[in-house]
Amino acid sequence: MLNGEKKIARPLRWGMVGGGRLGQVGYKHRIGALRDNTAFQLVAGAFDIDPARGKDFGVNIGVSEKRCYPNYETMFAEEAKRKDGLEVVSIATPNGTHYEICKAALHAGLHVICEKPLFFTSDEVVEIKALAEEKGKIVGVTYGFSGNQLLLQMRAMVEKGEIGDIRVVELQYTHGFNATDDGDKVNAAQKWRVDPKIAGPSYVLGDLSTHTYYMSQLIMPQMKIKKLLCDRQSFIGSRAPLEDNAYVLMHYENGAVGRLWTSSIDAGCMDGHRIRIVGSKASLEWWDSKPNELRYEVQGQPIQTLIRSMPYLDESCNADERLGALHQEGLSESWSNIYLKFAIAIDAKMRGDQETLDTLVYPDINAGLEGVRWIENCVRSADQGSAWVDFESNKEAALVGKT
Ligand code: NAI
Repeated sequence: MLNGEKKIARPLRWGMVGGGRLGQVGYKHRIGALRDNTAFQLVAGAFDIDPARGKDFGVNIGVSEKRCYPNYETMFAEEAKRKDGLEVVSIATPNGTHYEICKAALHAGLHVICEKPLFFTSDEVVEIKALAEEKGKIVGVTYGFSGNQLLLQMRAMVEKGEIGDIRVVELQYTHGFNATDDGDKVNAAQKWRVDPKIAGPSYVLGDLSTHTYYMSQLIMPQMKIKKLLCDRQSFIGSRAPLEDNAYVLMHYENGAVGRLWTSSIDAGCMDGHRIRIVGSKASLEWWDSKPNELRYEVQGQPIQTLIRSMPYLDESCNADERLGALHQEGLSESWSNIYLKFAIAIDAKMRGDQETLDTLVYPDINAGLEGVRWIENCVRSADQGSAWVDFESNKEAALVGKT
């Protein structure tokens, strides 16, 4: 159980690019990083594309005025001159800016925590992965839901064979908040999401389904996709070529099959983020809106609901417990759990503790790479008229000279 006690020698000096006053995701980063006072300390920021608003915001949340910078370039240069300068930076800006900011941060000697989808292409991720290795830095990716400890319970049950051999994987991340184009014109965060120059090669596949795909890999790391077929649509025509709805069919290497539905036009749906894993003996089902419960359905027996924090759960699950039985945890705790793991990974990297790095389960740059590959494979299939395509996953081997 976690109670905020320190896991690393001292809090890391942390800054943010983006995530300012009007940003959607910035506060999630701060509640994630700062919940445990012992992991990160917010010391600097280039919080906003509008420098004055960024400074006003930074000061408002307690950052010293002289460390609220007009842009990330100035922040990295000025902080590098300080003895107590930044050690790690989070990037919470629109997709199209991630690559340049991440590269600049690594060159400035910083560890990086970056939003998903990491970059536009897997080649870019491979390049940044090599740069991070060269500089001895961590790059983490904020798949924010993935810190929910019941996902680790699912992982443990799958590993122990409690549901048998996996046969069917049902993934869904849908909502209806963009069923009309109203927000596309007036909402800054929605505007860029439907602009390929800033969003990248996809809308909902990148914005939503990368979370669910990573979570499925977290639960079943042994399950590799062999081929997939993606069918994507732009029900709001002005969003084309970016999709606001997509279906993906998957064939896994072990013979299992899967299906993912992602959509922002699922009218009336407030939260359709679900994962169901069907094995030969039983099924597991998790739903974002009930993050404290895990359905365990054994064929021929009454359906069980496993409740967060109970002693019958796996040790790996309860290790991330924060509030104990009787109380609800949710997205905030999930973000805190992944941020704490980022801190542990960065600290281990600084100390050269390879054993910790090899065993810590958290969304690292490989998880970011997989997310970008997922998008690439889906788009490639959709653009070939929804053809079955082999899941390409060996591009980086060619690029970094590995066999
Ligand atoms: P947003 O448009 O609401 O906010 C973007 C923020 O970045 C604003 O504060 C803006 O002023 C700032 N900004 C833009 N360019 C900048 C620059 N060059 N320097 C400094 N600040 C800059 O976008 P939103 O929804 O917060 O998304 C940001 C990123 O987070 C995206 O990559 C998105 O995919 C991801 N995201 C992830 C979520 C998760 O659960 N992990 C949830 C929502 C978004």
